[in-house]
Amino acid sequence: MSRAYIITVASEKGGVGKTTLATNLAIYLKGLAEDLPVTLFSFDNHFTVDQMFRLSKTIGSQNVGHLFTGSDPIDLLTDGQYGVNYIPSSRNLANPQQQLKSVEQLAQVISRSSLPGIVIIDTSPVLDLYTLNALYAADRIIVPIKDAPSLENCQNLADFLLQHKRSKTVLKLLPCLIDTRIRFDGPFRNSYQLLKAYAINRGYRCYEGFIAKSPKVESLITNPSGKIYAVITHGRNTGVHLQLTHLARQVYLDYLEHGPIRLTEVASELFNQEKDFLQKYNSRVNNLQPNCLCCDLPIPKTGVWPNAYFLENETGQLSGFIEEDCLLELLLQNFNPGLNSKEQQKLLQEILIGAADSSLLLLQKTQINDEQARLDLFRLNQQGRRISERSMMSKKRGRFQRKGKTSLLQLFDIAAMGRAEPFQQLLLRQADKNPLDLLRHHNYLKWQTLFSRIQIEQTLETEARRPSDDP
Ligand SMILES: Nc1ncnc2c1ncn2[C@@H]1O[C@H](COP(=O)(O)OP(=O)(O)OP(=O)(O)O)[C@@H](O)[C@H]1O
Ligand SMILES: [Mg+2]
Repeated sequence: MSRAYIITVASEKGGVGKTTLATNLAIYLKGLAEDLPVTLFSFDNHFTVDQMFRLSKTIGSQNVGHLFTGSDPIDLLTDGQYGVNYIPSSRNLANPQQQLKSVEQLAQVISRSSLPGIVIIDTSPVLDLYTLNALYAADRIIVPIKDAPSLENCQNLADFLLQHKRSKTVLKLLPCLIDTRIRFDGPFRNSYQLLKAYAINRGYRCYEGFIAKSPKVESLITNPSGKIYAVITHGRNTGVHLQLTHLARQVYLDYLEHGPIRLTEVASELFNQEKDFLQKYNSRVNNLQPNCLCCDLPIPKTGVWPNAYFLENETGQLSGFIEEDCLLELLLQNFNPGLNSKEQQKLLQEILIGAADSSLLLLQKTQINDEQARLDLFRLNQQGRRISERSMMSKKRGRFQRKGKTSLLQLFDIAAMGRAEPFQQLLLRQADKNPLDLLRHHNYLKWQTLFSRIQIEQTLETEARRPSDDP
């Protein structure tokens, strides 16, 4: 499968010419290779891309935000002027995006798509998650530099690449907005030469040439039509036209020479990761107790099993399900032994079911001495905080009531597997409609994180309640 070649234009310094460069480069590349599909989008919220490329007045409902909501990028493309496809910009990127969680997302989304040719991504001057996604996906990162501070900021981009085991050579710097009227005495005759020398001295690669500061180019964004004009059509007689032509040739040769590698790497990482997740999921499924922990009813491995609770001990060694009826009976018998009338039991059962809908149950066994154990039942909210609790003591094992072949203590015995911890915990929650969903990678990760948090909270609570040794 051929994948897109991603060029990201980035710099933490604002106003260095990123958007002007990204938009015009798309047009010049298209001019160089008519058959090459060129796609452009921006995580900036200035709508320059839209003002420059929009063909019709109608504004579609799809925009760059939908890259993170499961859409195939190909379905977001709009035909634009100069033969460039673009994805419309979004006003709402600044709002917290639930869907955007990691730096790999954009690369993964595009790697799964058959989006062809070259994709140019314009970024905002902030290293937010959108920019990081664009950096992560890039085969090439073009960094416009206009002065010493913008050059210093490149270090953060290089650090990001290093962090993701990528070479600093992915970055290529381009002096921009160069005022050619300024001349220096000495070995570097103008700011372009000076910046380039600084950049090379710091181990960065640079494009040949630069983009000059031109009043004509500056004027292209402000005119009565409300459009933003391209250098290729409205600035042909400027030096910037020749400079962009020269740059586009270098970028195109780079593309021909190296080709789209990054998304292939990402796709292969993704494949290995998914294989790993699947293996772990399968081993979690295999580790499940095959039957209800109380009544031996076999767990249906596929399909719906609405009335069950998932249960696991703190090490994950015991993992299985209990039918709702079995669990409620065990809890009622043990924690409310005085309830004899059927009506009372039924009422309490209903209350328990209602409460379990929105909460978790934690059973905790604390061994007091060889003979005696305490069993606590905590109801916790979804964040793992205590809502209510009940306790009971046992002198002898036999005091804990049984349901079927299992007593509560036996559950702990299965879970303990020879370990002698000061206390042992079993966490329970209502199973999903498809009970095995909880064992899928992301769901299970959340479950484990929650269980770890609960353990910390329980330890802190227990310590806080322990009578102080101080007189
Ligand atoms: N070669 C040039 N000559 C003169 N003015 C330019 C040139 N390139 C860009 N500009 C002007 O400089 C300003 C900043 O450019 P641009 O918006 O492309 O920078 P940016 O890095 O994208 O900014 P931001 O970080 O805010 O997104 C704009 O007014 C633009 O018209
Ligand atoms: Mg910009």
